[in-house]
Parts: sequence; structure tokens; C-alpha cells
Amino acid sequence: MGVPPLGGRIAGAGLLTVALALSGCGGSSLEESGGAEATGDVKIGLLVPLSGVYAPLGQDMRNGFQLYLDQHGGKLGGRTVKLVTADEGEGPQTGVPAAQKLVTQDQVAAVVGIVNSAVALGVRNLFDESKVPLVIANAGADAITGAQKSDYVWRTSFSNGKVSAALGAAVAQEVAGGKVYLIAADYAAGKEMVAGFKSTFQAAGGTVAGEKYTPFGKTQDFQPYLSEILASGAKAVYSFYAGAEAVSFVQQYQQFGLARKIPLYGTGFLTEGGVLKAQGQAAVGVKTSLHYSTELDTPRNKEFVDAYQKALTAPPTVYAVQAYDAAAVLDKALTKAAGGDGAAVVKAFGEIGPVDSPRGQWSFDASHDPQQPYYLREVRAGGGAMVNAVVRELS
Ligand code: PHB
Repeated sequence: MGVPPLGGRIAGAGLLTVALALSGCGGSSLEESGGAEATGDVKIGLLVPLSGVYAPLGQDMRNGFQLYLDQHGGKLGGRTVKLVTADEGEGPQTGVPAAQKLVTQDQVAAVVGIVNSAVALGVRNLFDESKVPLVIANAGADAITGAQKSDYVWRTSFSNGKVSAALGAAVAQEVAGGKVYLIAADYAAGKEMVAGFKSTFQAAGGTVAGEKYTPFGKTQDFQPYLSEILASGAKAVYSFYAGAEAVSFVQQYQQFGLARKIPLYGTGFLTEGGVLKAQGQAAVGVKTSLHYSTELDTPRNKEFVDAYQKALTAPPTVYAVQAYDAAAVLDKALTKAAGGDGAAVVKAFGEIGPVDSPRGQWSFDASHDPQQPYYLREVRAGGGAMVNAVVRELS
């Protein structure tokens, strides 16, 4: 699992150039490439996992995007949206061809989605070269808004380094000199989440008891890793897992008896949405950092939670919010860039100002990431169901 080797990327880019030449599509004019006139339809690609470990996350993103459309007459920028959905799958092997299909065959005006950091890294050049706007609504790969920033790639979610760094000082304070064990899924996001956490944790005086990366998408039995944690003498654990892996990890953490002995921390994906429901009591007490919780006590969030609950008969998740906000920024940008091409749309992204989101107001920063607060959350049993209670804002 990882970024395709350079040779592969160059070959991929060559194929793209040929495909674009054959299709006569050198850019993403809204008129030609699935765009239509300022008043007509606009074709948008939704690239989310419909299979694999992250399939439930993809479903949440789809639901969040669709809710925004339903609340806005099925339109973005005044144009009726024709949504083309493609399966990201579990990694670049499936995610990259799916993105290529949306750009070259379906000729969408923009693509929204992507859960997995390795997929985001694998498709970055495709969007940069084809000049089709990409709005990443989850994948946090640091380079996407760092060393590999592109005019055509924007993000409504987070960067792995930032969402994890938000928790470091708080954990250093809570363990008061005790060592912390670091464990994560073995791919780009897991490595970056650990690095981000470690940077602020160590700067605040924290020390590491051990560091382990578990095979991504292949680990069902965490017991050998949990034994190592126990033997390490760690006073706390910091982890990054999401989707099906988060369910297994937290359940087994409790079944193996660690939950009573060693407090568990992580980025908020560890206890989010359907994952938390499946974990049930096993998740009580787990503390995480994230830029959203259903429990955020604001009128905007309450209104959103109610609308989502009504439409989907389940509470929303951070994935739904990130995709809902992706629809909101596309709506604003397509309005501003009426009739323009991909270049006009991404120029508009840079000018849209504050987004009134269920997570609170945020704006794109200079790197194309949201400028937003992060919260310390703790899983508590609230009214029969588990919730991520908001403890405080992290600085
Ligand atoms: C990522 O690969 O960047 C990723 C995946 C799932 C999450 C968060 C980040 O929940």
C-alpha cells in the first residue's frame, strides 16, 4: 500500500495525456466537459469507497453530499447536478483508475470525495495536469496541501499532521510523565498521524513506549499487538484506525482487558459514527481529537443533525459533514465562476470566504486546507447510545 512508484506515475500521466487528446478534452470547460452552459446541467464525479475497510465512510460521504443537494433543489451554482459515482475501493490500485475514468471518460466538471491518503497521493497529478478541480472530502495526506500542493486540489477535511498534532500536548499532560505506545494502520495516513501526534507530544515532554504499524486492511486479530502494548509498560496508547479496523481494534482492546488498565487515545476516526455504534460499551472513555462531533452545541449543528437524522435515520459523521461542505464550496465556486472552466472554479475557491458549516465557520487557508478548531472528545453513554462528548477545544 502506498504511493505508486515514480515510473508508474509517469506512465499514468502519459496515458492520461493520450486519453485527454483522444477525448478532445484538455481542460474542464464547464460547457464541454460535463459542464454545460451556466444554466444547464453540471456533471460531478463522486469518488468514494463502496467496497473494502472504508466502505461505510464512503457511504457517509455520499449521504452528506446528497443531503446538501436535496436541500438545494439538486443544484450547485444554479445548475442541476448529474452525479457520477465511482468506487475508490481500498487503495490506489482501484482508486486511481476510478478517478481516471471520471476525468477522461465521464468528463466531469469536478470530482469530490476520496477517503484514503494513498489514493489522494496517487491521483494528485491527474487533477493537476487535466486541470479538473478535485475537492478532497476526507483523505488527509500532508503532501497534498504541502510539498505537492496543486492549484486544482482543495480539501474540506483536515491534514493528517494537524488533526493528530492537536492531541499531543493534552495527552502529555494527562499521562504526567508516563510513556505512551503508538499504534496505527500501516500506510501513509497511519504514519503521518503518528508523526503529527509525536511532534507535539514530545515537544510537551511526552515519551514513547513503543511504535507499531499493523498491515492495513489485513489485520483482524490485534491480540499479538495488544500483548506487546501490555508488556511495554505504557501508561496510555495513541492510535489511528478508521472504519472496520477501528471497530476490531477498540473491541479487542476491551476484550483483552486493556481498556481497564491503559487509557486509549486516537484521532476521532477511531470512534466515529457507525464505528462507535458497533463498538458500543467497549468505546466508553476513549478520548480523541477531531474537528467535528454530533454533540457540538450550536444552532447550525443541531439543525444539521436533525435534518440528517430525519433523512438517513442515523446521526451524521465527520465524513458526512466534510462531503456536505464540499458540496457547499462547489455551490459557491460554481456560482462565482458561472460558465468558466476548471481554472475559474479553483480561482473561485480561493475567494469564497467563510463556510457556514455544522462544524462551525471555517475558511480555506493558503495551503487549501480548512482553517478550523479541533476538539477533545470523550466517548460517553448518552441516552442509550454512545456519543463523542465535547470536552474542550484544543489549542
Ligand atoms: C486517510 O487515509 O487519510 C484517512 C482514512 C480514514 C480516516 C481518516 C484518514 O478516517
